[in-house]
Amino acid sequence: MELLENIPLAPLTTIRIGGAAKYFVDAHSIEEVQQAVASSRSRELPLFVLGGGSNLLVSDRGWPGLVLRIAIPGIEQSSRHDEHGRIIFDVGAGESWDRFVSRAVMAHCAGVECLSGIPGSVGGTPVQNVGAYGQEVSETIESVQVLDLKDGQLRELCREACGFGYRSSIFNGSERGRFIVLRVRYALTPEGKPCSRYADLQRHFAGRETQPNLAETREAVRHIRALKGMLIVPGDADCFSAGSFFKNPVLTLEQHQDLERRAASRGLAVPSYPALQTHMKVSAAWLVERSGFAKGHGDGRVGISSKHALAIVNRGEATAVEVLALKDQIQHRVEAIWGVHLEMEPVMVGF
Ligand code: EPU
Repeated sequence: MELLENIPLAPLTTIRIGGAAKYFVDAHSIEEVQQAVASSRSRELPLFVLGGGSNLLVSDRGWPGLVLRIAIPGIEQSSRHDEHGRIIFDVGAGESWDRFVSRAVMAHCAGVECLSGIPGSVGGTPVQNVGAYGQEVSETIESVQVLDLKDGQLRELCREACGFGYRSSIFNGSERGRFIVLRVRYALTPEGKPCSRYADLQRHFAGRETQPNLAETREAVRHIRALKGMLIVPGDADCFSAGSFFKNPVLTLEQHQDLERRAASRGLAVPSYPALQTHMKVSAAWLVERSGFAKGHGDGRVGISSKHALAIVNRGEATAVEVLALKDQIQHRVEAIWGVHLEMEPVMVGF
């Protein structure tokens, strides 16, 4: 297998930032992934596994070792049903996520329609338990096929073994760096109803007599995402981002009361949602915006999206150092005003 040298990583990320990979290889099959791993080991090159590049911040120095891009293709709709009558889709980690969602919706299968328009590849979805508009992939993942770098074995991890939480799993948590995701099995409901729990979607369909179908829900989600700059639209300057730059903080009831007190003293109410039975999830975008970082903030090469306060955007030629400077500023100010620490969502590479 041929290792390419000195390949710029910025064009392979949605935020378009980062230096070059010393070595780079695209793996189109499980065997190629295994070969690439072997070659990184024999040459003692640090390995970084790249998917769709939609949730990454790559350092300006790039990556000193081998970047292995997972390009395993294939969307197979099996004739097998699980015990709930759901149809199994076996999807290569390198497939475009939105292409898979489109295929599922066209096949009248419910379970991922609210995750329409999310950039990136299928392999990244279990890693951060991708979620939006009332759905999370943990609800529909049946199992994940991985290469275990600990012993070189191929394994099939069932949903429970993946340890899913809010934007988290064993892949970005307790077992970070151990597994390479090769394929993901999704279990979707044939002729199922679309999920329309989320307020934005209910507003979109308000006043309609009939229930929206899966295809209409997909279009509505894409429309709402586009309004928030969270859909990659050619020519839209707000699209050069890594999506939400911070996670929505999950607070204990005590922390939440403190935050509510701070908000009340300013005559404000924080958008909050119950989480994990005993916690409250609060809107990071709201905290960012009420800490002096309005939509469109910043007049340099890095700023806040004009459509959503949670997206840091590259306005052209920005560096990772500039992004991190804005990130630090936001974290400090939110902490000083609201007493809440915002945790970064994108993965940092090569720092
Ligand atoms: N809000 C603001 N300012 C803004 C945007 C939002 O104050 O600029 C407040 C509003 O009160 C709004 C609330 O924040 O009601 C929630 O906003 P939104 O519905 O846009 O969702 P979010 O919590 O900011 C999360 C995910 C997104 C996902 C949306 C839709 C995280 C960190 N982000 O954003 O995921 O698309 O919900 O479900 O959980 C991503 O993770 O990269 C991502 C884009």
